[in-house]
Amino acid sequence: MGLFWHSCILLAIFLQVAIAASVPEQVHLAFHGDTSEMAVIWTTFYDGLHHVYYGTDVKNMNQVAIETSIKKWTSGSVTRYSHRAKMSNLKPSTTYYYKIEGRVFEFKTLSANPQSYRVCIFGDLGYEHGNSTDAIIRNGLNGQFDFIIHVGDIAYDLHTDDGRRGDAYMRRFEPLFSAIPYMVIAGNHENDGKNFSNFQERFWMPHNGFNDNHFYSFDLGPVHWVGLSSEFYGYDREYGKESIWTQYNWLNTDLKAAVSKRKSVPWIITYQHRPIYCSIDYNHDCSEFENTFLRSGALGLPGLEPSYIQSHVDLNFCGHQHAYERFYPVADRKYYTGKDVYHNAPAPTYILTGSAGCHTPAAKFSSEPLDWSAFRLVRVISFRKVNSSYYLEATIMAIPCCTSLMLHIFTCSSSLLISMKNRPMISGSAKIQITWMQP
Ligand SMILES: [Fe+2]
Repeated sequence: MGLFWHSCILLAIFLQVAIAASVPEQVHLAFHGDTSEMAVIWTTFYDGLHHVYYGTDVKNMNQVAIETSIKKWTSGSVTRYSHRAKMSNLKPSTTYYYKIEGRVFEFKTLSANPQSYRVCIFGDLGYEHGNSTDAIIRNGLNGQFDFIIHVGDIAYDLHTDDGRRGDAYMRRFEPLFSAIPYMVIAGNHENDGKNFSNFQERFWMPHNGFNDNHFYSFDLGPVHWVGLSSEFYGYDREYGKESIWTQYNWLNTDLKAAVSKRKSVPWIITYQHRPIYCSIDYNHDCSEFENTFLRSGALGLPGLEPSYIQSHVDLNFCGHQHAYERFYPVADRKYYTGKDVYHNAPAPTYILTGSAGCHTPAAKFSSEPLDWSAFRLVRVISFRKVNSSYYLEATIMAIPCCTSLMLHIFTCSSSLLISMKNRPMISGSAKIQITWMQP
């Protein structure tokens, strides 16, 4: 074979590699606070501007979203490009198709002001030992929920092996995340030693005035959702204490605005990675059955609970502990029980749901849990230790979301908020139902 043909083959191989490397991947969606818009984010390993063509006819995608940004970033030896674009002028309750460099995806918009929808909320899901991964994908693609909130600890870890673990995780979920929004917040496993860069670059959460993914909010129908960073507290020595104040000041401004419009958006639901309260045994975060620093602050730094109480936050979701625990309404350790306590709940209700599946066994609950611990699932995901390695023994899903399998249900009604002191009047009533997803 002559030099010419050798060169052609080498060139062909090079082009193949280049083309493969430039294919958009890890495509996923996110809400940005307006149901007529949808943010789309994707990754390449090769520079290049892409457009997103979209429309209601797969054969005629006649709308175009120009990339708002391309960000080159590195994790170890690997260079990636994060791409962001926003599809706008979307009609409600409509199926849309979108195309990025020849790859076609689809999603369905919610109604213009949806008063009913379903969300799947979980924390602590790994690429390996991701015991609920298949169920989440299957139920999501079957239309069992409308979007996802992942309350931190993603892929275990996004940055492992120079980010290849994060790539694998996002590729695995691309069929689902490209079809429904995937909302995230950082957990301790998102700390990559580079100020959470893998978390910051891979996702694009709603704009909050600070242009990052650590804390944000968005309205969706009757709920004001607020995602917060507990990791500002977990890594204050590493990254400084200023972020705690920045988030705290932003949160109070955000909640004040949310309270002022409570007639039209009655629910306030917050989420962060680490729990405010928990009953896990032998764990620093629950060693005093609460995370004191995160809950009430310390050394002159503010905690989160006073803001939650003052603004009458209805629900809070968290992960971090690999178990499921639901509390009675509680404010500053004062709790409320009794029949229908979740009806017109007088204080925030906390739900720990950190058992989606990862590399460590389920958490062990204390034999003397908090008095306001209403329900605990001990063997959420159980492991058997054999020769220093953990093997999956049994799996019971513990992912609150609305499906047909109602293992455990409680309801809250905002109509009860009417009777709350200092609470604005709310016309009508609303109900949030939390069930578990079918494995
Ligand atoms: Fe964690």
